[in-house]
Amino acid sequence: MHLTLSVIKADIGGYVGHSESHPEVMARATECMAKAKQEGLLIDYHVTKCGDDLELVMTHQQGENNERIHRLAWDTFVSGTEVAKKLKLHGAGQDLLASAFSGNVKGMGPGVAEMEFTERVAETVIIFMADKTSSGAWNMPLYKMFADPFNTIGLVIAANMHCGFSFEVHDVKGSKKITFCTPDEIYDLLVFIGAASRYMVKAVYHRDSKEIAAVSSTQKLAFIAGRYVGKDDPVCIVRSQGEFPAVGEVLEPFASPILVEGWMRGSHMGPLMPVAVCDSTPSRFDGPPRVISLGFQLSGGKLVGPRDMFDDKAFNLARHQANEMADMMRRHGPFEPHRLPLEEMEYTTMPQVMEKLADRFVDID
Ligand code: 13P
Ligand code: 13P
Ligand code: MG
Ligand code: MG
Repeated sequence: MHLTLSVIKADIGGYVGHSESHPEVMARATECMAKAKQEGLLIDYHVTKCGDDLELVMTHQQGENNERIHRLAWDTFVSGTEVAKKLKLHGAGQDLLASAFSGNVKGMGPGVAEMEFTERVAETVIIFMADKTSSGAWNMPLYKMFADPFNTIGLVIAANMHCGFSFEVHDVKGSKKITFCTPDEIYDLLVFIGAASRYMVKAVYHRDSKEIAAVSSTQKLAFIAGRYVGKDDPVCIVRSQGEFPAVGEVLEPFASPILVEGWMRGSHMGPLMPVAVCDSTPSRFDGPPRVISLGFQLSGGKLVGPRDMFDDKAFNLARHQANEMADMMRRHGPFEPHRLPLEEMEYTTMPQVMEKLADRFVDID
């Protein structure tokens, strides 16, 4: 069966502040999705949240970038925003940057990850969703899953993975893309994806079968809005098992927390903490950044699941380490490397402060 799996998300209001989603907003979204399923547009759906971000997981047969599916997501966010406004939630409609739908939610604020494939005999997918971070947060985890044999032993000992994977990388500032084949080109790949605020892994493909293996959202809210309006809080879909990494190989990168952009006012570096959905409640200094992962088996497009994959004691140490890292970073207060470097601050106060003080700067003798 040929399917499209679409994950479309937006922050349409935080409860309380930017820390959580309100159950009434999620209930409204569920109503919208249920109606679309009843009408036959969707095969199945799952509504969830990561912190203050509302996440719509949808299966259908309309293909990627489909106007009806994107309109459904947009209308669901607009409808949820009405509830958020009624409850006077914080930043109601925050990510809906356009006043009206214009055919595709890309560039209008919401984050989008979609993939089209023919369902395998057993189709395992893991969906990652993050809050308080930006789109480049998936670069290192995707590299580890699909190119690092210390993470993914299948690259070494599984005949159907030994050929490696190719990475489609987007330069989100230059609006260009390039594909690298691994393992041959890992050094070239790392030159770029190590700079995760500009170069982002958009998709990963199996080199032999050419099958799509992973896709991420790379929408940069600040570029779309031209100012700081919240972080991207990205999503990523990964296919697993068979010729793709096993579930444990897909989850393994998150066992060692890394520092990502985001956290308070989207202007800091902080650890990405893997948590169960119920623990995606970033409240300490509006963080630290969170990542959740939901696992599904697809059956004729039906979402069998989810299993809350980070709801596992084996990630307790990662969570503990992330808290220790959070303390260490917080110690720096307004200093780098906790606060982001200047070029990433251009959407906050720096331009205004510079303008105000421009004529007080004099030449150094
Ligand atoms: P807003 O109140 O404008 O969302 O920004 C401040 C904030 O809440 C950051 O934590
Ligand atoms: P969100 O991007 O999750 O809305 O967070 C905004 C913020 O400023 C948190 O401090
Ligand atoms: Mg928010
Ligand atoms: Mg958010």
